[in-house]
Amino acid sequence: MKILNFGSLNIDNVYQVDHFVRKGETISSKSLTLFSGGKGLNQSVALGSAGAKVWHAGSIGKDGLFLLETLRTAGVNVSCVRVLEEGKTGNAIIQNDAEGDNCILLYGGANQRITREQIDETLSHFSAEDFLVLQNEVNELHYLVQKAHEKGMRIVLNPSPMDEKIFEINLSLVDLFVLNDLEAAELTGGTGTEPATMLALLQRKFPSACFVLTLGPQGAYYADAKQTIWQEIYPAKVVDTTAAGDTFTGYFLAAILEGKSVKASLDLAAKAAAIAVSRPGAAPSIPKLDEVLEMWN
Ligand code: RIB
Repeated sequence: MKILNFGSLNIDNVYQVDHFVRKGETISSKSLTLFSGGKGLNQSVALGSAGAKVWHAGSIGKDGLFLLETLRTAGVNVSCVRVLEEGKTGNAIIQNDAEGDNCILLYGGANQRITREQIDETLSHFSAEDFLVLQNEVNELHYLVQKAHEKGMRIVLNPSPMDEKIFEINLSLVDLFVLNDLEAAELTGGTGTEPATMLALLQRKFPSACFVLTLGPQGAYYADAKQTIWQEIYPAKVVDTTAAGDTFTGYFLAAILEGKSVKASLDLAAKAAAIAVSRPGAAPSIPKLDEVLEMWN
C-alpha cells in the first residue's frame, strides 16, 4: 500500500507582526523569514517524519527547487513533482502575530497549473488500495478524485482552505475527511453547532466516509459508523500555529496506515501538533517521530 499526496508546494514568506495589518493600514514587521510550506508539502513532511512511505506530486517553478530538498530530508519521494520551465512556485504571505496566530495570503502559481496529463501519468504509478491525500491548494481536484476512484484508490480529503472549488469534487467518493469546524459547517450547511451535531450532520451527508474533526484548543474527534473518539490537545507554548493542522493530519494518517488504533493515532498526532505550534514556520516546525516519542516518554 502506497501513499500519494497530490498537493501544494509553497514558499512561505513569514512576517512577524504585533497585530495583523488592517484595511488601509501600513505597519512594519519585526522580521521576514522564508520557509518551505504549502498544505500539501507540510502534510507530506509530517507523513514522512512519522515514518510513512509517501510520494509527493505537484508542480513548482525553478525558484522552488529548495522545496524538494525539504521533502527529501523528510524521506518523501519527489519523483512525481514537476519543475515547470516558466512561472513561479506557489507562495504565501503569512503574518504571524504576538499570540502565534497567523493569517495567510496565497498565490497559487505552479500549484494551479496541474494538468490532466500530469494526473494520468502520476496515477499510473499507483493502484487499488493505495491512498490519495488531497488538500484544496491545487487545481483539477475533481478529475484527481474521479480518476483515483476509478483505480480503486482510497481518498483522504482535507478541504482546506475551504472555498467553492471543493463543491466541484464528487465528495461522495471521499473515504476520510480531515476538517475543522468551519469547514464542517460549510460542507453541511450547519453553523455554530456542537461537535456531536456537526459529526451527525457530516455522517448524514456522507454516510460511507470517516471523519477527523479538529477543533483547535478543544481537541479533535474521530467518527465513523461504529465509533466516536475524542482526543484532547497536549499543552504547548504557542509560537506559531502555521502547519499545526498539517502536522496533525500527516501524523494521524501515518499512524492509522501503519495499523495503530484510532485512539493511538489521534494521540500521536496531538503530540506532534503540540511540538509544531511551539516552533516557528511551517515545514521546519514539524517534528520527527523520535522527538515526539521522546518529548512524552
Ligand atoms: O497550513 C499552512 C500552510 O498554508 C502554509 O505553509 C501556507 O503555505 C499555506 O498553504
